Amino acid sequence: MLQEKITQYTEEINAFSTVIVDELEQFRIKFLGTKGIIKDIFDEFKSVSPEEKRTLGKVLNEFKQLAEAKYQSLKEGTEVAETSKDSGLDMTLPGEGFEIGSRHPLALVRREIVEIFNKLGFVVAEGPEIEDDWHNFSALNFPEEHPARDMQDTFFIRKGGEHGDIALRTHTSSVQVRMMEAGKPPFRAIMPGRVYRNEAISARAHCFFHQVEGLYVDESVSFADLKQTLFYFVQELYGEGTKVRFRPSYFPFTEPSAEMDISCTICKGAGCQLCKYSGWVEILGCGMVDPNVLENCGIDSKKYSGFAFGMGIERIANLKFEIKDLRLFSENDARFLKQYKSALI
Ligand code: DAH
Repeated sequence: MLQEKITQYTEEINAFSTVIVDELEQFRIKFLGTKGIIKDIFDEFKSVSPEEKRTLGKVLNEFKQLAEAKYQSLKEGTEVAETSKDSGLDMTLPGEGFEIGSRHPLALVRREIVEIFNKLGFVVAEGPEIEDDWHNFSALNFPEEHPARDMQDTFFIRKGGEHGDIALRTHTSSVQVRMMEAGKPPFRAIMPGRVYRNEAISARAHCFFHQVEGLYVDESVSFADLKQTLFYFVQELYGEGTKVRFRPSYFPFTEPSAEMDISCTICKGAGCQLCKYSGWVEILGCGMVDPNVLENCGIDSKKYSGFAFGMGIERIANLKFEIKDLRLFSENDARFLKQYKSALI
């Protein structure tokens, strides 16, 4: 009987916890008070048989010590809580919690692109955002006064200079030139970065955006290599079964040049607003590096060939997240950005 009571009260004491003074006082009165449980149990103990006394004596003492120790340790807690209340702090209130920030959707997409090309052995290279005419245009086979220069509305910074006018780069193709000038083939790199164009800001155009340039130069690189590389990239990025098609195009720095379309990521080719009911969306420009560009960078175009490609990160993000207004990317509205929390923090 007595043993059962002790076991039951031991459980109750072990489970008890509080930082509130009144509750602790109740506990003290209940167990340790002059008319409390411990007093009762000790009274009961007096009338048990001598054999029981031998075993129960120790148990009883331990029980008493447990109650006292519990009381003492909780008392310290309530004192801390009381003092902090005096100082205006209430330690009993739940914490405020904090929110973890999230990656920018463009950063998430850029990282995904980089990771896919890393698997193919492409390294990441970067170049300056303020460029000279040579790296942004001339070395890339844009002739002086050629209308192709007008394709890209340039923000000029300064006229003249050793390598021509200084401007904000209009594309990341300038980094190709810097890379080839500085090293020796083979080159296998992707070059992410910000680019600038003098355009009126709207939902569909912005004065700055982001691109990823790709370059692969080695002996006997062919258009088949280009196709296979980009095909692999698209399967990784948008899932297996995504179709690709190449349309002939023109860029001064590639010959032949192409634009690559993929089957629409939204309607899977059935036709929707995004693909203008064609089932296809353009995602990048590409081609075989023009021998003139190789020669401009000091590379023997008889020995080496290569392919290049360039894509807009906003465009890729658009097809992943269906973000229709480009301005959202640079307004930094936390309500927008928070939606793209990634597991890959
Ligand atoms: N530089 C081009 C642009 O900004 C994109 C581009 C097209 C890059 C074809 C390339 C390429 O490397 O081969 O519109």
